[in-house]
Amino acid sequence: MPTTGTTLDELRPGLVTLKSRSPVEKPGEQEQEYRYAHLLPTFSSDRYSPLVPYDHVDPGHRALSHPDPLAFLEGATSFEITPRFGTEVVGVNLAELNSTGRDQVALEVARRGVMVFRDQQDFIDRGPEFYRQWGQHFGRLHIHPTSGHPAGYPEIHLVYRDLKSNFNFELDDAVTTTVWHTDVSYELQPPGLTTFFLLAQPKSGGDTLFTSQVSTLKRLSPQFVAFLRTLKAVHSGVEQAEYSKAGRRGGTVRRDPVENIHPVVRRHPVTGEEALYVNRQFTRRIVGLKREESESILRFLYDHIDKSAENQARIKWRPNTVVLWDNRVTAHSAIVDFENTGEARHGARITPQAERPIPALEGLDLS
Ligand SMILES: [Fe+2]
Repeated sequence: MPTTGTTLDELRPGLVTLKSRSPVEKPGEQEQEYRYAHLLPTFSSDRYSPLVPYDHVDPGHRALSHPDPLAFLEGATSFEITPRFGTEVVGVNLAELNSTGRDQVALEVARRGVMVFRDQQDFIDRGPEFYRQWGQHFGRLHIHPTSGHPAGYPEIHLVYRDLKSNFNFELDDAVTTTVWHTDVSYELQPPGLTTFFLLAQPKSGGDTLFTSQVSTLKRLSPQFVAFLRTLKAVHSGVEQAEYSKAGRRGGTVRRDPVENIHPVVRRHPVTGEEALYVNRQFTRRIVGLKREESESILRFLYDHIDKSAENQARIKWRPNTVVLWDNRVTAHSAIVDFENTGEARHGARITPQAERPIPALEGLDLS
């Protein structure tokens, strides 16, 4: 696949001299070449065909039949980040997990929503070919229609921000950078188990917020949940594409934006848990309701997601942290609080697609 097009260096002359702010930077080494320069974003002008449906088999299913689905944590230290969701792990080298271990990871991330793995320099340093191989275990890798990627690796979605560059999809004229969302929910088959890590990070800040959409749903009354189960909503990639076309993100849209209809309450294919599945960034309207009805319900649900701190966790990116989350049962938001420090935040995401969302209400018509 050719990768002609705009590079980040062309967009912002001088980036090539980005000084290392990687976790391995030591005093006196500030002038060295950036360790992860080969993973800086490029914006190719390639065109992609529409995605076609594929048959997703969730690796978590296989782990259900293992005698000990938590065997991958043997010898490790793990603790709950909150009682409702999230687990932090020290003492597992993700890069060394075999197929069985990866299946078990998929199941446990589905159960806990988010898992934070510390001390993963081995994983991070193995590079994009390995990232691709890792992600393919969990599903077909999503290629983002607009984001920057390392040259030659369109499956690796990059986030990048420093004093002069911002290629993330954010609302610069809003009072907050907090935008709860699940990634690319406009796709017919949005992502499941997702892997993300930072290659460079500010001294402080740049944390990521997560919320459990299982928990946000559970806080609602049974009568209201019963009603929500009957609803479906339109998710749209149009605004994200427009943001890119306006030149804010490399200026390129490589696949035409899509809109798809998903259930408002979805069921996880492995755990069977129900989760709220609307998000402020990509959900546009509830199908079949009058406009004011749709707006009122969505606004209520977004407010509930926004302010329910008891369902949330704030993940701090210590160097060499790899975070895995299940996009089907969680939502997240970046926190941009370091924009004036001049420090770079550079991250990579591996985003396998999962099944078309399964409605919690059996037989719900999604046409
Ligand atoms: Fe995201």
